[in-house]
Amino acid sequence: HGTSKINDQGHLEIGGCDTTSLKAQYGTPLYIIDEQSVRNRCQEYIDAFKASGLKFQVAYASKAFCVMAMCRLAEEEGMSLDVVSDGELYTALEAGFPADRIHFHGNNKTPEEIEMALDAEIGCFVVDNLVELHILQFIAAEKNKKVNVLLRVTPGVEAHTHEYISTGQTDSKFGFDIGNGSAYEAVKLAETQANIHLLGIHSHIGSQIFEVDGFQMAVQRVAEFAASVKEGLNIGFKVVNLGGGFGIRYVDGDTPLHVSQYVKAITDAVKVHFADLGSELPEIWVEPGRSIVGEAGTTLYTVGTSKDIPGVRKYVAVDGGMTDNPRPALYESKYEALLANRAQEKPEETVSIAGKCCESGDMLIWDLELPKVAAGDLLAVTCTGAYNYSMASNYNRIRKPAVVFVKDGQSKLVVRRESLADIISHDVVPANTAKETV
Ligand code: LLP
Repeated sequence: HGTSKINDQGHLEIGGCDTTSLKAQYGTPLYIIDEQSVRNRCQEYIDAFKASGLKFQVAYASKAFCVMAMCRLAEEEGMSLDVVSDGELYTALEAGFPADRIHFHGNNKTPEEIEMALDAEIGCFVVDNLVELHILQFIAAEKNKKVNVLLRVTPGVEAHTHEYISTGQTDSKFGFDIGNGSAYEAVKLAETQANIHLLGIHSHIGSQIFEVDGFQMAVQRVAEFAASVKEGLNIGFKVVNLGGGFGIRYVDGDTPLHVSQYVKAITDAVKVHFADLGSELPEIWVEPGRSIVGEAGTTLYTVGTSKDIPGVRKYVAVDGGMTDNPRPALYESKYEALLANRAQEKPEETVSIAGKCCESGDMLIWDLELPKVAAGDLLAVTCTGAYNYSMASNYNRIRKPAVVFVKDGQSKLVVRRESLADIISHDVVPANTAKETV
């Protein structure tokens, strides 16, 4: 992937940096992000939209990997930013991300989060439900502000993906249903709210999607909805946000399209289905997360113990696991890996990669072909840039790894490794006041 290759010493090199040197400098486990690959992906989206001739914004869905350095990078590449909590919003603002390019998502934004985002004067709220619409109107009125709003709708499209990560179908916790009239009523209501400026609508059908038909169908449903709103209420949508969900290649057999193919399919569908609405074509926004950072990430582990059960299986344990990559345990996600310190050697044995957590489900990869592996070897698991660091935990009080960006032979630390002191930094041991009060 990206700028990685095997160098003359037979070591995996990413962004011009030898992974054995990265281990020496930063330790393991280590998240390595190929900076150029992330930048290229951003530009591929932007170039594809430019080619469409439509007005657009590409918002990086920061949930995939949200740290200050990544917000900076997204800003430099001309991206907008999708945030879903005060934590992501704070990270973006502290990184100096322009507030007017931030879009705020979430199905249960607290009044405090809404206030924070209003005070920061973010670009737009993606309103999920009626309760939120009322709270937003109330707080915006108090602050005498007019806020840009997209209404999130569920277009009733089921994406062909893992059910936990498909969100566009009717039975979903997210958004206003188009099918049962609640989206129409929400538009009608939003228009009457003095401090709400309705920009348009938003639809997100799921994640890790390979086919374009789900996106095209969503465009069609959204266009039909826009037509009914135009006819019944004489309201036009300036913006249509089609969410994220563009798939990436984790393992052989995954068949994503090129970014430009997804964008072309969507923009072509917009040109077809919105053509009859009479007005100008809407501005199209998308929110890719995984496809921006996923393939650019590699996690480097040191091999420790192993357990060979003759005739059954050989377990090889690494110094991380479900704490830094919960996806195999959560979604049965598949990953590929190679020995980073002996990357040119032929496979000789089949092993299963275990993490170090105290539970049997902490397995990263089943049945991986590797050269004869020994303690001290370096294992590189590829495609870990998305939903790994952002979903990492401190289960078993394991420290979160460091994150480095690599580019042109240089490495830059962007998240320092947690220390043991960090692990107890929020703990409070109550003074034993019981005795005193007796
Ligand atoms: N927009 C909205 C409203 C979303 O809910 C999501 C993802 C995205 C954009 C970005 O989708 P992407 O381009 O990254 O597929 N933790 C799961 C993925 C959850 C995705 C949630 N929403 C995983 O590890 O696969």
